[in-house]
Amino acid sequence: MNAMAGDGSGAPHNHFADYDELPEGHFYDPDAEYEPDPEYAATLAPDAARQRRERIGPTGRPLPYFPIPGPLTDHGPAKIIAMCNQKGGVGKTTSTINLGAALAEYGRRVLLVDFDPQGALSVGLGVNPMELDLTVYNLLMERGMAADEVLLKTAVPNMDLLPSNIDLSAAEVQLVSEVARESTLQRALKPLLDDYDFIVIDCQPSLGLLTVNALTAAHKVIVPLECEFFALRGVALLTETIEKVQERLNPDLELDGILATMYDSRTVHSREVLARVVEAFDDHVYHTVIGRTVRFPETTVAGEPITTYASNSVGAAAYRQLAREVLARCHAE
Ligand SMILES: Nc1ncnc2c1ncn2[C@@H]1O[C@H](COP(=O)(O)OP(=O)(O)OP(=O)(O)O)[C@@H](O)[C@H]1O
Ligand SMILES: [Mg+2]
Repeated sequence: MNAMAGDGSGAPHNHFADYDELPEGHFYDPDAEYEPDPEYAATLAPDAARQRRERIGPTGRPLPYFPIPGPLTDHGPAKIIAMCNQKGGVGKTTSTINLGAALAEYGRRVLLVDFDPQGALSVGLGVNPMELDLTVYNLLMERGMAADEVLLKTAVPNMDLLPSNIDLSAAEVQLVSEVARESTLQRALKPLLDDYDFIVIDCQPSLGLLTVNALTAAHKVIVPLECEFFALRGVALLTETIEKVQERLNPDLELDGILATMYDSRTVHSREVLARVVEAFDDHVYHTVIGRTVRFPETTVAGEPITTYASNSVGAAAYRQLAREVLARCHAE
């Protein structure tokens, strides 16, 4: 908690605290310095000056420098990431869209898989799920269905979508009687691996058969946690599920990281929750923390990622930093 110390009143501590836009002329250039970007840091920490001096990130640990990824000449095979937490409303869909869009901005080929019958990921990318003839459901359940028939291009260059709608809820029931029912998604994604650098699966808020399919297909799991009082409730069950899938179905599966979302540095509560999360998960917690801003709900209405909707906002900067951190973790392997 040392880096998070404030006066405890919850009042804003600096003039940056209330804004969403970077000041005019201040384009976010993550490569500009080895210190935390001051504008970004100021929105997350109550004592920006101290944070800069000590290079402490919002998680209370020294913030490493995550380099700008170089261009790729070859693409694939894709790393598959499952965005997973059975708790609802923690930022899974928001993180899938925006991490995907940020990776695509860095020249990575990205496929997003909407694996929630609510279709929120599809809506967030401007697709009306009710109007879809073919969805990820068809890809899962119909033998011989080619992925290109279901794939949609998004408005973001380098980023495609496998959309879904309420049809997918039937798959949960129908898959039960299938042979190798847990690896149906893995088989469906296999022909696509060489076309992408990252495949990110947006899971539904449950630990049912669809989520087990996502974990069986994945190399890595990202667990978004909302910085709220009950954030850690249920995480034990989630890690147990991940371990069972590792043991029985997918020995390659790894927890890539815990992503703190909806963080508000102005509240003692948010800072305490983040400190508890770091205490519990240590190095598994990403250095990048996503602040709470009304810009995210706005992007859902707009049907596009924050990186294009408000390219210069701190929310966009945060997901770009997350993309660099995820890439840095991949390269460290
Ligand atoms: N950092 C943030 N700041 C403010 N609002 C946010 C943030 N991230 C997400 N939201 C909003 O919170 C709500 C829930 O987010 P999201 O849909 O991404 O969560 P989810 O985990 O996918 O939910 P579900 O479990 O229902 O699928 C949405 O309205 C979203 O716009
Ligand atoms: Mg969702």
